[in-house]
Amino acid sequence: MNITVIGTGYVGLVTGACFAHIGLNVTCADIDKGKIDALNAGRIPIYEPELEEIVRASHKQGRLDFTTDVPAAVKGADAVFIAVGTPSMADGRPDLTAVIAVARTIAPALDPETVVVVKSTVPVGSGAYVERVLRETAPDAVFSMASNPEFLREGCAVQDFLNPDRIVVGVGDCHARDVMTAIYAPFGQDGVPVVVTNIPTAELIKYAANAFLAAKVAYINEMANLCDAVGADVDQLSRAIGLDERIGPAFLKPGPGYGGSCFPKDTLALTALAHEADCPVRIVEAVISSNTYHIRRLVSRIEAEFAAAWTERGYGDTKLHGKTVALLGLAFKSNTDDIRSAASLVIVPHLLRRGARIRAYDPAAMDNARALMPELDYCESEADVLAGADAALLLTEWPQFKELDWPELASSMAAPVLFDLRNLYAPSTMAEMGLAYFSLGRPAAT
Ligand code: UGA
Repeated sequence: MNITVIGTGYVGLVTGACFAHIGLNVTCADIDKGKIDALNAGRIPIYEPELEEIVRASHKQGRLDFTTDVPAAVKGADAVFIAVGTPSMADGRPDLTAVIAVARTIAPALDPETVVVVKSTVPVGSGAYVERVLRETAPDAVFSMASNPEFLREGCAVQDFLNPDRIVVGVGDCHARDVMTAIYAPFGQDGVPVVVTNIPTAELIKYAANAFLAAKVAYINEMANLCDAVGADVDQLSRAIGLDERIGPAFLKPGPGYGGSCFPKDTLALTALAHEADCPVRIVEAVISSNTYHIRRLVSRIEAEFAAAWTERGYGDTKLHGKTVALLGLAFKSNTDDIRSAASLVIVPHLLRRGARIRAYDPAAMDNARALMPELDYCESEADVLAGADAALLLTEWPQFKELDWPELASSMAAPVLFDLRNLYAPSTMAEMGLAYFSLGRPAAT
């Protein structure tokens, strides 16, 4: 089968590369010449484990091409996937400008029977809107419509694509159903459920899934705060409630609030959509405000805990002003260079306003961070960032942080104080090493 993917951003590139990897012929098109030139030269514009290898291999085997000629790319395609960005507008609704621009460009070039598949995350009703634009632009065009939301996590997108829990396909007619089920047939043969729905259902499934996951994260963060207040342990609580199959163990790790390019945007979009439909989603609204409140509350707690630890260590002045704070991690989660809606973007401005000096180290996100937070002192390694610091804040759960030699690192700090916003270490172990150690929802070791 011949597949065209328009948009070589995160979703488009992973989708195109993975379709090629499973044996389909794929053309990826993008109007950004710089990106296409880089991809043709085997360079991947984003950080995503395994992506570079499969892009290079499929490109070499002739199953994956890159072009800036969008109309030519859709010629002869069985399915054209639109995977361009839909950033949030000021009111929370996604901006469909890029999706509509693609529809206008491809309409006159579509071969009869091509299925136009909306892969971008778009509000309910967008499939119908795209279809209208295609028909207005090219009244004689013969095509079918489908919606195929993605459920890829940054940092494990390739594995998520190749080993999905389910595939959701919204179809406008029988031809779209036949083409889409043929594309995903290898997954169906492996026992992956392929859920075929109408287009509005598929569009809503994406938002409903992300909002539910965001709710789990916000919920466990509230429970962590409550654990702190009553002397309970959130790790044990999380394990115990997660053992109930109806709840499940995933997405019950406390942290600095959910971030990234999806949950914040999609929860907002869902509430906007629900308001328009005069059918408010109060739970999702509460999730958004809980997440916002959580990070603000954390910022105050960090300041208070640092001050208490400095008092105990004999600092005469316990204000943040003039202190050096070391940040371990800047990305919104591990295995990505993405800092969109990351906790670092809330915490850093606060610390800077208070007059702290900030040193930072992240294994992948420093280039992206530099553009938004040029005031920080960016370091080469964990040892480098911690040397001489008055306190450290662990913001991202990078696996290598788990392996750090803390006795050695703590001795290089001016004061061995660590606030771990990812509960990466056991409080008792850190206390034995002499660190003033703070985490989320776990009693301090005595
Ligand atoms: C999320 C969904 O998990 C994907 O299924 C979806 O396809 C994607 O959005 C999207 O809509 O494109 P992603 O944003 O990459 O994927 O990140 P997640 O791994 O879901 O994490 C989201 C946020 O929740 C992160 O800030 C993470 O640190 C936080 N989180 C997650 C927790 O704080 N605790 C947890 O237990 C899990």
